[in-house]
Parts: sequence; structure tokens; C-alpha cells
Amino acid sequence: MISDEIREFRSALGQFATGVTIVTTRGASGEDVGVTANSFNSVSLEPPLVLWSVANSAGCHGHFCACEAFAVHVLSSRQRSLSQTFSRRCDDRFAGLEVQRNAAGVPIITGCAAVFECNIHERHEGGDHTIIVGHVTRFEQTGLRPLVFHNGHYAHIQAYPDSRTTKP
Ligand SMILES: Cc1cc2nc3c(=O)[nH]c(=O)nc-3n(C[C@H](O)[C@H](O)[C@H](O)COP(=O)(O)O)c2cc1C
Repeated sequence: MISDEIREFRSALGQFATGVTIVTTRGASGEDVGVTANSFNSVSLEPPLVLWSVANSAGCHGHFCACEAFAVHVLSSRQRSLSQTFSRRCDDRFAGLEVQRNAAGVPIITGCAAVFECNIHERHEGGDHTIIVGHVTRFEQTGLRPLVFHNGHYAHIQAYPDSRTTKP
């Protein structure tokens, strides 16, 4: 049972608009594993590090605690149904999906805005989640527009004209 306080905390966190990713790995028996996650973030440029967190209660938690490599797929605005598939109970989330496999055997989904292939750098306990830090070994971007998640809804990006900035 979720308390009102936790519900409000989650709702306030939902005001932070994010992209949507699917994180994949190869299970110990060679099975494809994947989960929708919006906890993805950049950590470091040199070395190239990223992070995301997986709920300790998730079925895939054990796989991501045991694997040595994973891939983060930044979904494009055309991939909303994929986000739904990888966030719901499903016998085979990869059914009918075109995937390639990288050198580590990690399934790579096509048609994404960007993909970051990673080796495990560190894992940290983070309350009811495990924080997974990845060292990026390969990445690509396609120029497709990203899918956005805000306040429990999927959304599109619309940039302000003439508003391009770069971080210092
Ligand atoms: C937009 C969105 C973002 C999510 N982000 C995360 C996340 O960062 N970490 C996480 O553990 N679960 C996240 N979830 C929930 C999981 O996708 C969901 O619980 C999934 O069913 C877990 O799969 P499993 O239990 O089969 O491993 C998110 C769900 C959605 C719809």
C-alpha cells in the first residue's frame, strides 16, 4: 500500500521531465532482458560514465546485478508502445522486435534516438533501488526526435526557436 506522502513525493518528482530509455542486457542463460527506465542520466565525460537505477523489487534486478554489460536505448517519439511493452508484465518483451547483438551479446534495439553500450563500472545501494553506473564503450545517435515523459504522460519535444545553448 503506497502512503499519501510517497504518492505526493512521486508526483513532485514527475514534474521533472525526462527522456525515456529501455535498458537491455543478456541474462545468465542467454535470454534477452530489458526494462523501461527514465532514471538515466549522464555522470562524466572523461571517463565517459552514465547511470540509471533499477528497483530492487523488479524482476530484472538480479540480471542487472549479475551482468557485466548493458545498453541504454534513448527512445524516439515513435517508440511509445515499446516503452509500454517494456514497463508491463509480458512473457516476451522482445517478441517481433528487430534486435542486433553487440560483442557482449547485449540486445541492441534499432530505431532509437541514441544508444549507449556500457560495461558495468560500479553498483551502489540507493534505498529501494540499485544505482548502476556504466562505462560507455560505444554510442550512436540517429537524429530522431526523443520521446519525453512528464507528470505520468508521454509527450513530444518542441524546442524554442533560437534557443540553442551548450553547457560550459
Ligand atoms: C516512463 C517509465 C519510466 C520508468 N523508469 C524506471 C526506472 O528508472 N527504474 C525502474 O526500476 N523502473 C522504472 N520503471 C518501471 C519499470 O519499467 C517496470 O516496473 C517494469 O515492469 C519492471 O520490469 P520487471 O519487473 O519485469 O523487471 C519505469 C516505467 C515507466 C513507464
